[in-house]
Amino acid sequence: MGLVSAKEMLDKAKAGHYAVGQFNINNLEWTKSILLTAEELKSPVILGVSEGAAKYMTGYTTVSAMVNAMVDSLGITVPVALHLDHGSYEGAKAALAAGFSSIMFDGSHYGIEENIEKTKEIVALCHEKGVSVEAEVGSIGGEEDGVIGKGEVADPKECKMIADLGIDFLAAGIGNIHGKYPDNWEGLDFDALDAIQQETGTMPLVLHGGTGIPEDMVKKAITLGVSKVNVNTECQLYFQEATRKYIEEGKDLQGKGYDPRKLLAPGAAAIQQCVKEKMELFGSVGKA
Ligand code: 13P
Repeated sequence: MGLVSAKEMLDKAKAGHYAVGQFNINNLEWTKSILLTAEELKSPVILGVSEGAAKYMTGYTTVSAMVNAMVDSLGITVPVALHLDHGSYEGAKAALAAGFSSIMFDGSHYGIEENIEKTKEIVALCHEKGVSVEAEVGSIGGEEDGVIGKGEVADPKECKMIADLGIDFLAAGIGNIHGKYPDNWEGLDFDALDAIQQETGTMPLVLHGGTGIPEDMVKKAITLGVSKVNVNTECQLYFQEATRKYIEEGKDLQGKGYDPRKLLAPGAAAIQQCVKEKMELFGSVGKA
């Protein structure tokens, strides 16, 4: 199966009270690990690509070509969406032209009027090609690949205004943060999430900053309408720990342990483990 829009899988998740994971990719190992795990668990999956990661991988066309070819050569049968994460106005257009099947346009740093104008334009361009659109209201705290947010909790009325533009799913800031959570983090704002869902109805909601949110909070967020959870840093931490262990145990010095395919193998296996744990937590196993 080729790449699909994320609309159908997320509408199904919203109706079925589970969430689909967006796992951000950085390179071939990341992509392969995530796809193999999704297939093994029969789970739909969204591959997230930040603008920084796309640049690192030499551009949107490279990423799109790699993912399309890998889905085909691995014989992946579960639904896979290739999604631009926190896209700028220009980035959204470029990823769309390169064949991404889903686009996040993050206009949260504009005033609400400009966010509405630009989101509307991106929705028209994407829907013409059957590509799904995520928009953002409020902001996700912390930093991801140079995108910095103050972490404002979204205004439910503004969420409704953006949802009414015909977007397919909505990221609303509810106290969530990219990267590790600080020790004094106050947790997710469930009252805000509840109010947002009451305004936006059946619209699937997106929880960014999936790394480090306690499991019971993730589950509660799903009961309040979250149908997509984004995970980036946690796969990086799993990869780091496994790679560190390999080197600290001196395995790179034994035989052909320096072979990159051997050196990167424990990290790749650790990403698979991370993705598996998240898919089980989100309830998407067996939903493909
Ligand atoms: P984390 O890096 O905190 O998992 O956040 C991922 C994310 O929200 C991607 O947009």
